[in-house]
Amino acid sequence: MSKIPYALNTAGVQFTNSSYGWFFCACCRGRFYKVNYNTIVLQLQHHYNETQMKKIQIITLFPEMFPGVLNASMLWKAQDKQAVEFTYINLRDFGLGPRKQVDDTPYGGGDGMLLKPEPLIAAIEQAKQNDPGALVLLPTPRGTVYKQSHAKELAAADHGLIIICPRYEGYDERITKWVDRQYCIGSYVLTGGELPAMIIADSVVRLLPGVLGGEASAEIESFQQDDQSIEFPQYTRPEVFQGVPVPDVLISGHHAEIAKWRAAHSKKA
Ligand code: ADE
Repeated sequence: MSKIPYALNTAGVQFTNSSYGWFFCACCRGRFYKVNYNTIVLQLQHHYNETQMKKIQIITLFPEMFPGVLNASMLWKAQDKQAVEFTYINLRDFGLGPRKQVDDTPYGGGDGMLLKPEPLIAAIEQAKQNDPGALVLLPTPRGTVYKQSHAKELAAADHGLIIICPRYEGYDERITKWVDRQYCIGSYVLTGGELPAMIIADSVVRLLPGVLGGEASAEIESFQQDDQSIEFPQYTRPEVFQGVPVPDVLISGHHAEIAKWRAAHSKKA
């Protein structure tokens, strides 16, 4: 029990003691009533579980590709709030021999090079040592099509993520024994797994508690399916731009009519 205040501190959560036996959480303004010592401890532990930082470890040959995307805007704020922590594991550090070799030619012939299994597995094992419960994700055009429901599941899970970024013409198939999920982020082929890794990370982090505020957490809790409406057109000032007006209904103030219009103009996923 004496460990709990320390755990709360590492999660960046601060509680302030106040009068009348209430404790207030500095990050979410949640309040906890001091009935007796055990009750407080249970409630704080529950809160700590909810606000635990998500660890995302990325195994890549090009760690320099990530900071521009992951250290900006909302994803930067999410790190600042300690909702997420990104770690980059450079696959080259696990390369074989003096030239730190990570790739080789395919058996049976063919163009291009494949990532060798030994460096990748050593990198995954190091990431697992850092976060033993983490799920290992492999972006690949041969994977399951990645959808919002996957992002929700990954965000809601109480474990971290290890994302492998393949390069060259692919990887030795035997690495898939160490992989929990294989995702394809669209029907096209990219030069590597770095962009898919950023997309997966972005889609997960925006759903973490406290990152976007109430909206995204409500989205996690709801049972919205992938094929439900996800988007409708939106407008801001000015009311008329280069002769094109904002639809009347949106400035009417009639909430029911606005909701109807948005539903009618929503795209299907
Ligand atoms: N690697 C290359 N193309 C990809 C795609 N469409 N999805 C996931 N990983 C990839």
